This record gives sequence, C-alpha cells and structure tokens, in this order.
Amino acid sequence: MRGSTIVTGLLSVAAVAEARSWQHVGKKQHNKAARSEVNSLDHYLATRTVAADRFLNSNTTKFAVNGTGIPDVDFDVGESYSGYLPISDDPDDTNELFFWFFANSEGSDAKEVLIWLNGGPGCSSFEGLLQENGPFSWQYGTLKPVPNPWAWNRLINTVWIEQPVGTGFSRGEVTATSEEDVAAQLLGFWKNFVETFSLQGYKVYIAGESYAGAYCPYIASAMLDKNDTTYYDMSGLLIYDPVIGNDIVQDAVTTVPYADFHRNLMPFNESFSKEIHDLHNSCGFADYIDKYLTYPPPGPQPSNYSDTRQSLLRRVPDRHDLPSPLGRARFPRYLWLRP
Ligand SMILES: *[C@@H]1O[C@H](CO)[C@@H](O)[C@H](O)[C@H]1NC(C)=O
Ligand SMILES: *[C@@H]1O[C@H](CO)[C@@H](O)[C@H](O)[C@H]1NC(C)=O
Ligand SMILES: *[C@@H]1O[C@H](CO)[C@@H](O)[C@H](O)[C@H]1NC(C)=O
Ligand SMILES: *[C@@H]1O[C@H](CO)[C@@H](O)[C@H](O)[C@H]1NC(C)=O
Ligand SMILES: *[C@@H]1O[C@H](CO)[C@@H](O)[C@H](O)[C@H]1NC(C)=O
Repeated sequence: MRGSTIVTGLLSVAAVAEARSWQHVGKKQHNKAARSEVNSLDHYLATRTVAADRFLNSNTTKFAVNGTGIPDVDFDVGESYSGYLPISDDPDDTNELFFWFFANSEGSDAKEVLIWLNGGPGCSSFEGLLQENGPFSWQYGTLKPVPNPWAWNRLINTVWIEQPVGTGFSRGEVTATSEEDVAAQLLGFWKNFVETFSLQGYKVYIAGESYAGAYCPYIASAMLDKNDTTYYDMSGLLIYDPVIGNDIVQDAVTTVPYADFHRNLMPFNESFSKEIHDLHNSCGFADYIDKYLTYPPPGPQPSNYSDTRQSLLRRVPDRHDLPSPLGRARFPRYLWLRP
C-alpha cells in the first residue's frame, strides 16, 4: 500500500486556527469571530444565486434531489443527487453505498470532484454534510438549517459518501475487516458513480476528518494502484484532525515540540516549561522523534507505547489545565497533492 508514502510526503502540516465547526461538541465561539461569521453569512445570503443544472440527464434523473423540496429547508440548496450505487460491477449486488452529490454551486465546469468522508470507523459522512462543510447547515441550538457560506461545493463538485457498507444509510452485508476492504468497496462504488454522472477523466480529490485519516490514504493508494485516470485520477488528499496511528504517537509525542514552536501563544513560565521538557525526555518521546519521525521512515514504528508512558503524559494536561492552544495541537491538517 502506498499510504505511508502519501502521508509522510506532506506538502504542508499546519495547526488549524479554529475548532472544526462552529459549535462542535458545544464549544463557544469568541464574540469577534461570531460577528464576522454573521456578516459573511448576511453577505452570502444577500448575493447567493443557484447555478443551472449541469449533471441532469437520463442517467442521473432518478437520483435528482428537488433543491426546494427538502423538509425544514426553506431555500434552494441547488443541484444535487442522492441515492444508492453498488460496490461492484455486478448490477445485482445488493451491497450499496449511499451518497449525496452536490454540483459546484458557482457553476464551474472544472473537471474535478471531491469525495468527503467522515471518520468513525462507521461515522456517517452526513455529519460533515449537515454540520460542517455542506451547502446547508443545521447547527446545535439553532431553529432551522441555513445556507453555509463555507460550503466546499462552492469550490468543487463534492460528494458525501456513507461508507463502508453498514455506515449511515449504506446497506448490505457488513464484510469489511481492513482498510484494504474499505478501499475496495469505495473503488467499486466509485466506478459506478463515475459512469452514472459521466465523470470520466475528472480529477479526483479525497478529503476526510478524524478516523478518515486512517482510510483516506488507503483509498487514495488503491486509486493510484489502479493506474486508470479515466476513473481514478487521484490528484490530492486532505486529512483533517486525522487519526493516522497510535494516539500516543500522534498526539503526545509531538505535544512539547508543538508548544515550543508556538511559544508566542504559550508563554509558559520557566519551571513549567522545564517540567514538560523533562517529561518529554523521560517518557522517551524525544528519542522516539529522533528515531522514528523522520523521512523516509527507518522501518515500522513500535505498535504500542507502554501504559506508564501514557499515564505520565496525561499528567501534563490534567495537572496544569493547559491553555487551549496546546489542546489544538490535536487538530493538525495534512495535505498531499500529486506532483
Ligand atoms: C420541488 O418541491 C417544491 C416544494 O415542495 C414543489 O413546489 C416543486 O413542485 C417541486 N419541484 C419538482 C420538480 O418536483
Ligand atoms: C449514460 O451512461 C452510459 C453508460 O455510462 C453512457 O454511454 C451514456 O452516454 C450516458 N448518457 C448520458 C446522457 O450521459
Ligand atoms: C501504468 O500505466 C503506465 C502508462 O500507461 C504504464 O507504463 C505502466 O506500466 C502501468 N503500470 C501498471 C502497474 O499497470
Ligand atoms: C508556572 O506555571 C504553572 C502552570 O501554569 C503554574 O502552575 C505555576 O504556579 C507557575 N509558577 C510560577 C512560579 O509562576
Ligand atoms: C507493548 O509493548 C510492550 C513493550 O514494548 C510489550 O511487552 C507488549 O507485549 C506490547 N503489547 C502489545 C499489545 O503489543
């Protein structure tokens, strides 16, 4: 599998400036941010238009969603298609993934399409569609859905897919037991999707968050391995706040270097700074970074870290209630673009 090449060949790794949705898990928004959010929403609402349909034809009409007919949504969500497609070439295959595909809402004809996947494993991708990056958004504590000025389909044709079989509205026999199985299902579905919407030759981008950090690279890798740009012109990958391995390795090992790098945001006093550096060293994290977090990797990373190291590390945030920027070390973004 080529996932490790993809994940470590990163173009950019950046901490995210904001929590991953407005009110995700009930977090409060700062007033200033909330004000600018309202202004840009007003502007978007005042100026938004709905582009003409571009994918509607005899193959797609059975999937067409009436953009003004969605219960509780009192505006036109634009051109979209939703339904089931099987995960193989067998037309009688009853194992099917559920999708909701939104055309580029600004009317762009660019031949590119983005797949969005939420995490889990087994998390509905409609969490993303309805509360994160979809064209309409229904947030916690609000009365009704509103148009989302930051909808990703304003930039690119975007499809939210429920996968693997067993997730969300997807249906069939639950058989996937590995990331390779998950990728095979998605690829089987994808071929049918491309044929249905005549997306042959489109550049394909994959994005996801949380546990999607584990399976997006496998899906991308499987697409590259197909060597078939008609259906699988895998052109870029974005994984956001991703799970890419052992929690201790991906969060804890990098916490103190992250705090050092952002010391202007986290001006710890000398004694506290010394304490966390001592922990970083005594937990073996410093050695781990030197040995394993290099490119190319020297070999497989140890598959676990001992309980002692885990509990030592947990003392840091538990005892000192670190300011939120350190918490945000947990929200990195990884972007890979095909050279
Ligand atoms: C879409 O839904 C609206 C609201 O229910 C309805 O008035 C309209 O006729 C529907 N359009 C089509 C093409 O079905
Ligand atoms: C419908 O799909 C078939 C098979 O992919 C294709 O040959 C045909 O051109 C498509 N029709 C339209 C109207 O795009
Ligand atoms: C991939 O496609 C290229 C160009 O057609 C070809 O040269 C190469 O042998 C193919 N590789 C595989 C693994 O099929
Ligand atoms: C240093 O910072 C830590 C953590 O914020 C705090 O508990 C401690 O009281 C501070 N020590 C001094 C001398 O200010
Ligand atoms: C975890 O690592 C320790 C020591 O490196 C080893 O003894 C133990 O068997 C490992 N546990 C698992 C579940 O791999």
